[in-house]
Amino acid sequence: MTEYAIGMIGLGVMGANLARNLARHGFSVAGYDLDPARREAFDAHRSEGQIASFTDTETLLKALARPRRIILLVPSGAVDSAIASLRPGLDRGDLLIDLGNSFFGDTERRSAELAAQGLLFMGSGISGGEKGALHGPSIMPGGTPEAYALIAPAFEAIAARVNGEPCVAHLGPRGAGHYVKMIHNGIEYGIMQAIAEAYDLLKRVAGATPEELHTLFTAWNAAELNAYLIEITAAIFARRDPETGQHLVELILDEAQQKGTGKWTSQNALDLGVPAHTINAAVDSRIISALKSQRLAAEVLLPGPQPQPPLDRTAFIEQVRQALYAAMLCAYAQGLAQLQAGSREYGYNLNLAEIARIWRGGCIIRAALLEDIRRVYAADSALPNLLLAEPFRTRILERQGGWRAAIQSAVANGIPVPTLAHSLAYFDAYRSGRLPANLIQAQRDYFGSHTYRRIDRDGVFHTDWEA
Ligand code: 6PG
Repeated sequence: MTEYAIGMIGLGVMGANLARNLARHGFSVAGYDLDPARREAFDAHRSEGQIASFTDTETLLKALARPRRIILLVPSGAVDSAIASLRPGLDRGDLLIDLGNSFFGDTERRSAELAAQGLLFMGSGISGGEKGALHGPSIMPGGTPEAYALIAPAFEAIAARVNGEPCVAHLGPRGAGHYVKMIHNGIEYGIMQAIAEAYDLLKRVAGATPEELHTLFTAWNAAELNAYLIEITAAIFARRDPETGQHLVELILDEAQQKGTGKWTSQNALDLGVPAHTINAAVDSRIISALKSQRLAAEVLLPGPQPQPPLDRTAFIEQVRQALYAAMLCAYAQGLAQLQAGSREYGYNLNLAEIARIWRGGCIIRAALLEDIRRVYAADSALPNLLLAEPFRTRILERQGGWRAAIQSAVANGIPVPTLAHSLAYFDAYRSGRLPANLIQAQRDYFGSHTYRRIDRDGVFHTDWEA
């Protein structure tokens, strides 16, 4: 009887594509899904390598080489039940890998529960969507070195490659992999919303058509803004609806959905006390977008200024480009600072240069600037903020004029640009040696005797403000 190298639980598009990727690299895969149609679709790919579906997990477990290596790619709500159903049939030393978008806290809990039974467990982020799973994703595994050693050859074979290096690395213990994936998604939310705001400005202020936007984004992607999300945005503007012949993007309902990973990043940033203006604004933007019926009513009741075309259209487009680039830098800066804080808080011992390295290819936030980010953290792993290091310091300083001008146009024309503007507020607050928090402290002391510290002497002080 054939012994399969890897088990795959969940044969949705991600699971099936990842299994096909493994099989093409010589790793045989035994797959399982509750849904017979998915099993049948999976078996249709048999010619690509050694893969087979099983109708029950007992038979699948018998067919796997020991120690067993089993990947779970099931909806995040189904991870615990999938583990519970496999658990009785597993032996000490077997490895379970959750490749879904699980919350890192759940991964911490599962790691402890399974370790108590002598089972190895890894929580691993994976990015790149369905195509990435098939052709080369970025993989972000967390767990023990012993567990990683069991799966490293397979992950290294199937991951995207940049300069010959696979976009995968053992990131840290327990929930470290899912923590890194969560931050990846927070950055993803920030960049996506910054792009959406640039589109809105160019469309509503400069009157740019989808054709022009396609041309602009294609050109932007060929220079310093080179990034997967810019590339797909250019392609989106070119797509027409086959039935109506109209630009498809303009026919799509403007309510952004979310599965929660961006929100988790914001919640975690608040827990850690890490500023995350760009990411928070992006999460809030998705939330307000969902209030479609209220927005339609308010559009009539709360009119704003009628957008006026810019005096110098070419200059305006360049300002928007600079604002987008600066906001992208802020999204990475905040995400990386949060990784540092999370690493300290949860004992993950994360290597930021390694994380930037594996984000250079395969994942949704891949961008040319990640190579510079990698270099910066390789030179100084304790760097407190990306914006302090070259080349980013000079790049953001050189673009702040355009960034400010784009936001001024947005404000004057009544176009909401929360992510571009909150990014600028983050930048301005971070570079302000003195903020008005002295007044907050005075107010707190005034109404609640909360005390304050002084800049001219040590100690803790209270004033009777009404005396
Ligand atoms: C990736 C993506 C992916 C993401 C979904 C949608 O890295 O491949 O981040 O994992 O979860 O595409 O996420 P939202 O529903 O939260 O937008």
